[in-house]
Amino acid sequence: MPSLLAFCVLFLLPELAFSITRHYTFNVKSHNVTRLCNTKSIISVNGKFPGPQIVAREGDQVLVKVVNYVPNNITIHWHGIRQLRSGWSDGPGYITQCPIQTGQTYTYNFTITGQRGTLLWHAHISWLRATLYGPIIIFPRLNETYPFEKPYKEVPIIFGEWWNVDPEAVINQSLQTGAAPNVSDAYTMNGLPGPLYNCSSKDTFELKVKPGKTYMLRLINAALNDELFFGIANHTVTVIETDAIYIKPFVTDIIVITPGQTTNVLLKTKPTLPNATFFMMASPYFTGQGTFDNSTVAGILKYEKSNKKLPLLKPTLPAINSTGFVANFTKRFRSLANAKFPANVPQIVNKKFFFTVGLGTNPCPVNTTCQGPNGTKFAASINNVSFALPAKAMLQSYFFGQSNGVYTSNFPANPPFAFNYTGPPPNNTMVSKGTKAVVLPFNASVEVILQDTSILGAESHPLHLHGFNFFVVGEGFGNFDPNNDPAKFNLVDPIERNTVGVPSGGWVAFRFLADNPGVWFMHCHFDVHTSWGLRMAWIVLDGPQPNQKLPPPPSDLPKC
Ligand code: C2O
Repeated sequence: MPSLLAFCVLFLLPELAFSITRHYTFNVKSHNVTRLCNTKSIISVNGKFPGPQIVAREGDQVLVKVVNYVPNNITIHWHGIRQLRSGWSDGPGYITQCPIQTGQTYTYNFTITGQRGTLLWHAHISWLRATLYGPIIIFPRLNETYPFEKPYKEVPIIFGEWWNVDPEAVINQSLQTGAAPNVSDAYTMNGLPGPLYNCSSKDTFELKVKPGKTYMLRLINAALNDELFFGIANHTVTVIETDAIYIKPFVTDIIVITPGQTTNVLLKTKPTLPNATFFMMASPYFTGQGTFDNSTVAGILKYEKSNKKLPLLKPTLPAINSTGFVANFTKRFRSLANAKFPANVPQIVNKKFFFTVGLGTNPCPVNTTCQGPNGTKFAASINNVSFALPAKAMLQSYFFGQSNGVYTSNFPANPPFAFNYTGPPPNNTMVSKGTKAVVLPFNASVEVILQDTSILGAESHPLHLHGFNFFVVGEGFGNFDPNNDPAKFNLVDPIERNTVGVPSGGWVAFRFLADNPGVWFMHCHFDVHTSWGLRMAWIVLDGPQPNQKLPPPPSDLPKC
């Protein structure tokens, strides 16, 4: 009998046989960090900035015990992890959980299913992501290989944003006054701003390489409010994976990456020692009307054993507002869509949504003065609803049938009225407030059009959906045309991702299968826009089968 059991486990269920449970402890504490000649206390995990890597294989179970030693409320989100039937571990504050309060502990528990590549984890409450973030690295199963050349070495490069002041003070002040928040003082590469900033030559990320080898760079954009261009002087890279999905490889010298996106690329080094060292640089892509951090982070690609003083070459990055470049770049992404890695694009849709996304205003409270547009307060919305976070977690309220006073289920499928979304702005820019969700039956096949508005300036918005990957079936500039655009949708090999940039002054269409019961946040991955209300929630009901139901919450789920 034991030998039969062993036979079954090893030969009939190879996935189970090779899957393990990985344990991590995240101690959230403060520690002092100096950047740009300025020392301040930051909130970090295990005293590390950027935070530690989560490393696992596809199929593994991951347990992360988070202990909160700081005065702030904390939650951690495992960005891009599907969280199949484990919504209690997703992490957005007041959506799937109450925050972990000072002195409290919560163990996130999830299994990585059908994903391999790079993702990221980050705090998901207020702006704490500014310093609480790190890579998630998912290797293929033990008996599996990459569908591309095995790299000689793999190197995560995580982009962030650095404020000389406390980012919590920045967003709190902005929400008070209604003005746009102060922009960051630097971008960082693996936590380091690099030599183009004051006082930062010592704080430069250096990648030492050997000639004639292939390196995999795991690029992650953890910046709060900025999409980035990235390039390496005199080198091209081959893009092979995004958002933990393999793609059809393509060669480029520039990468565009929005906050929340991850991109794995292969870098083939020169066959022989070159007579130069090379800057790797990232600078912002921005088309909005406000101010932004217009600076550049640089790291150095150095060939080993070249010890003479060599000229330092710089890449040429696109201009700040190169929307055409971004559109051409994003069109190159295609799913592998082969027998082993199929693109299961929903061909038939049961539920259609048309969502406008963009900025707007809130009235200034009586007897105060506000510093937003025309004395109002900045706001942001989806279908003109600026989403207010509830005081209790939505998932818990949903699960126990206690939604009264927490949220309503009437999130609009369309904007309140039609207008020229990308044309001259309407006179009334006010948004409405609400905590509203869309309820979807289990296994609904959903299509969403995200339409940028130019109400306070057209702008690209990186929209992120929790709990699912979606297929980006179409995109374009101007207003979506329901009569002519759907015919052009790619239903064969569209890119599958968890975060997509809505083109500035344009639209994007995606489809997903609602096969994961729970409450799932969707929001702009610019923290400033999320804070202003560009967010909403989907509720996916249980299916009829036992394995289609959300299990009850873990006993250590934090209380509000
Ligand atoms: Cu990476 Cu809801 O976020």
